[in-house]
Amino acid sequence: MAITTCVFDAYGTLFDVAAAAQQTAEDGEFPELQDNWQTLAKHWRDKQLQYTWMRAITNTHDDFWNVTQDGLDWALEATKLELIPNLRKRLLDLYWELRAFPEVVEMLQSLKSAGKQTAILSNGSPDMLHAAARSAGISELLDAILSVADVGVFKPDSRVYDLVNKYFNCTKDQVLFVSSNGWDASCAAGYGFITAWVNRNNEPVDRLPWRPLTVLPDLTEIPQFSDV
Ligand code: LAC
Repeated sequence: MAITTCVFDAYGTLFDVAAAAQQTAEDGEFPELQDNWQTLAKHWRDKQLQYTWMRAITNTHDDFWNVTQDGLDWALEATKLELIPNLRKRLLDLYWELRAFPEVVEMLQSLKSAGKQTAILSNGSPDMLHAAARSAGISELLDAILSVADVGVFKPDSRVYDLVNKYFNCTKDQVLFVSSNGWDASCAAGYGFITAWVNRNNEPVDRLPWRPLTVLPDLTEIPQFSDV
């Protein structure tokens, strides 16, 4: 069955989640961040994701914006940056305007020219996702922005992946799901999507019962891949 619909994870896949900490370090207002913005960014992301899994398993869903703030608070304390005035606010503000990876716009344009349907499927809340898409200039290139808010549980619960087929009225094997998160790509493969793992950091494949169909270094080849 041909691929009709290309669906993207948001954070880390289309939007650069480390950019908030990096930009804050680079603009010079917070010299304390110079040496450890990478550690801060990693802790922030790790905790944000861990909290989504714990909340999904224990059936205690919360808005992704709250979970993002919880993750940041842990990360700031772990790196001893929690008392710096305005740093928390600055980092959180930037999360609403994360930059897209450089290949994103052209890749989406190619998919649209080829007649594919395109969407985001993300843990993010609808307002976060719409703001990030607007700020990255890709809103017009997306047919839908699908959020877990509609089902009240985080990935990789299958009810999240169900949102795609419900919205587009297509079958699982018509969907190419693309994520830079190894666990998300693997779980989506287990769900039945055709999956591409964008392995930007050259990490080992996750040891889960399912594997993504393909592994790519970035998003450049997605239009070609979705044409098969
Ligand atoms: C998302 C996270 C998992 O956008 O990156 O859903």
